[in-house]
Amino acid sequence: MPKLSVNIDHIATIRQARKGTEPDPIAAAVLAELAGAEGIIAHLREDRRHVQDRDMRLLREIVQTKLNMEMAATDEMQRIALDIKPDFSTLVPEKREELTTEGGLEVAARIDFMKAYVGRLRQGGIIVSLFVDPDENQIAASKKTGAEWVEIHTGAYANAKTEQDRDREFVKIAESAQLAASLGLRVGAGHGLNYVNVRRIAQIPEVTELNIGHSIISRAALVGLDRAVREMKELVHR
Ligand code: PXP
Repeated sequence: MPKLSVNIDHIATIRQARKGTEPDPIAAAVLAELAGAEGIIAHLREDRRHVQDRDMRLLREIVQTKLNMEMAATDEMQRIALDIKPDFSTLVPEKREELTTEGGLEVAARIDFMKAYVGRLRQGGIIVSLFVDPDENQIAASKKTGAEWVEIHTGAYANAKTEQDRDREFVKIAESAQLAASLGLRVGAGHGLNYVNVRRIAQIPEVTELNIGHSIISRAALVGLDRAVREMKELVHR
């Protein structure tokens, strides 16, 4: 059974809508761990649209399971990661204009750069994971960089419009997971996983970790709304 790591970026997204102090992703990390999350993930984006530097620093102090810092392979992020020392760094591609991470990392076309980048993080004691599409070239290239983990991008599976497309994408993920494990890589998966589509991915034997954010935070907003309204109504009517 894979472990579940929870991505708390969208708690920070709600906070940044008002540029205030609530909801605090640090409180969300504590609650997620109390509920059984086996890891906490936060993506410090170059444009700081949701998670802030202060969040990463405080998360490092309070996370008791493991902290996974998602980041682009830039000099700035490398400096911050080596300073903060998350347990994991997951390297992702990043474009300013995208709503969320759109595709996997291009590893195969720049193995030398990625190898040097991964090496510096590993020397700093950080375990490195590469977020890649379910593509054998990218998986094989990931192994050559010295990264210990790959996270297989499940977005195309999650967004498939037909059963046939979903099945095809599922097979790509399952085969990529097998290949990665046979090369000695640890295997995670994530992006777009929700309460409807997660079971199948969770059953792939080589996948030992699932990284899920949007669907959990979305559900939290809805399942928590009833209580939040009742509490406000009680205050208003008191
Ligand atoms: N894994 C990676 C590498 C991601 O970039 C994201 C999104 O930040 C996720 C997992 C989680 O995706 P979602 O929010 O769709 O569950």
